[in-house]
Amino acid sequence: MKNLLKEFEEYLLDNLPNSKTFHPYFEDALGDMLKAGGKRFRPMLFLSVIKSNKSLLIKNSMPVALGIEMLHTYSLVHDDLPSMDNASLRRGFETLHKKYDEVTAILVGDALNTEAFNLLSNAPLHNDVKIELIKCLATNGGIDGMIIGQAIDCYFENVKLELSQLEYLHIHKTAKLIAASLKMGAIISEYDLQTQEKLYNFGIDLGLLFQIQDDIIDETCTSEEAGKTTQNDEAKNSFVNLLGLTGAITSANNLALKCEETLHTFDGHLKKSLEKLLLKYINRHK
Ligand code: IPE
Ligand code: IPE
Ligand code: MG
Ligand code: MG
Ligand code: MG
Repeated sequence: MKNLLKEFEEYLLDNLPNSKTFHPYFEDALGDMLKAGGKRFRPMLFLSVIKSNKSLLIKNSMPVALGIEMLHTYSLVHDDLPSMDNASLRRGFETLHKKYDEVTAILVGDALNTEAFNLLSNAPLHNDVKIELIKCLATNGGIDGMIIGQAIDCYFENVKLELSQLEYLHIHKTAKLIAASLKMGAIISEYDLQTQEKLYNFGIDLGLLFQIQDDIIDETCTSEEAGKTTQNDEAKNSFVNLLGLTGAITSANNLALKCEETLHTFDGHLKKSLEKLLLKYINRHK
């Protein structure tokens, strides 16, 4: 897994957007948050599925992995804007609207979003596969996915949602992109539709767990520890705010157990490949 991550990081550094114009800093700003790092959770999920039965396709899938990470990075850049979560630290660095200006942060987000689909459409893969990948990323990252989740997250600040609405919010905001990353790996690996769906559903549980853990991090970690602004969820429908810290931890424990159980039901190589990546994530709140 170390190697897969290393391979991805090298690919990313070699393939950063590299246009140069007479704008004094826009191109630097475009690369900043991508280079800053982060866990690379979504591209690793995607690549781990491919590694499990089509490892020869890893190389040709790198542009797609980078596209997924770009779309996620755009969502973070916009999430931190003053009109959204108003955060000043991300991935251990000053957020783009702080370091440069708000216009730059908005446009870097826009650029990473469109560039993600540019990368997917130009990847050295079959066209019919690429259409499926684009559909999956657009659906789960877009109107019926991350965007509506973010819209609900921000609109209902200071308004307490019910538990079912809370789950709807976090499934859309976070889990769908995580589920899509697994499914996109399965599309490239030509896993049958049933396995694709099983991976997607697993990703929804995993993504929900990931967001509960993220809400726990906001409550319990310093900004230095987290590398991003924390204690920032006061107005949010976070799991910690709705269930209390202990309730959120219990919820995370239950979902972690469910994820581990599902993980064991995947067959052979897929199970092994995902386990290698996931065991530390599934239990990261402990
Ligand atoms: C943060 O995502 C936003 C959420 C959806 C919880 P990550 O925790 O994956 O952030 P990076 O990519 O590691 O910076
Ligand atoms: C953001 O959730 C999810 C996204 C779609 C970016 P958060 O607002 O909780 O993410 P952090 O805590 O700022 O990373
Ligand atoms: Mg947010
Ligand atoms: Mg935020
Ligand atoms: Mg958070």
